[in-house]
Amino acid sequence: MTDLYAVFGNPVGHSLSPRIHTEFARLTGQDLRYEARLVPLDGFVPAVAAFRAEGGRGANVTVPFKPEAWRLSEHLSARAAAARAVNTLSFRHDGIHGDNTDGVGLVTDLRDNLGCAIRGRSVLLLGAGGAARGVILPLLVEQPALLAIANRTVTRAEELVVEFEAVARSNGYTGADTPISACGFDHLEGLAFDLVINATAASLADEAPPLPPGLFLPGAVAYDMVYGRGLTPFLAAARADGAARVADGLGMLVEQAAESFFVWRGVRPPTAPLLELLRSA
Ligand code: ATR
Repeated sequence: MTDLYAVFGNPVGHSLSPRIHTEFARLTGQDLRYEARLVPLDGFVPAVAAFRAEGGRGANVTVPFKPEAWRLSEHLSARAAAARAVNTLSFRHDGIHGDNTDGVGLVTDLRDNLGCAIRGRSVLLLGAGGAARGVILPLLVEQPALLAIANRTVTRAEELVVEFEAVARSNGYTGADTPISACGFDHLEGLAFDLVINATAASLADEAPPLPPGLFLPGAVAYDMVYGRGLTPFLAAARADGAARVADGLGMLVEQAAESFFVWRGVRPPTAPLLELLRSA
């Protein structure tokens, strides 16, 4: 019998996930069907229950249901627990397993697709919302020299630092020694980094975070977790400010999908052909 998977979101019509997972299944010879499901804003829990009753084996979860999926999960991976958000649900005999593959997707795209090492580098993360929170632990595991978190509302960045320092102490993961700091955008004046990641929602409003000039060290990479046609305002500003390389979040999307596929099927799909196809489309 063909195994059933889906992505739950609102909106979800624009999602590339059905296309990506269908292609992964074809490339790996896995027998599965993957659909997009539009869920009413107040209807996430019943939608999951109905899907399980239909025989659904697993689901991706996107905006705005990731925190709700985290609360619904009976078993959480360490990265999902730290993210307080779940993008990958697996329905197993012992209950609902929640995982978060966003951060690993980002790290894999940087390291394997873009050739951007994180270990020993200085990293600046812009934003302190759900998108930022989801990638902090996987970034720290890569052992950067330091991680600075800058946000419009400084207190939110400070709260993340306190929280992830506690996660580091309790888990003792590799990268637990990486210094983490918080600041506002204006406090970045005079500082420069090897890697600057935009996890703010500014790109969605067609804006760039208000950053001081001189933020990029020689050879530095600017990464926007959002993707779309052409450069986002952040990437355009980064290029003008001297970033050696700029990349949008399409690779992260494909890599988080590959990690979800692996969580469900135990098979790692190749990502390069698909990424090339989506980039040329
Ligand atoms: P998400 O889940 O997408 O991260 P969120 O939790 O609402 O959404 O967080 C949005 C993030 O983008 C926050 O860091 C927000 O800054 P504040 O904490 O100060 O609100 C940031 N953000 C949104 N619009 C922005 C803008 N125009 N410029 C800079 N930062 C922005």
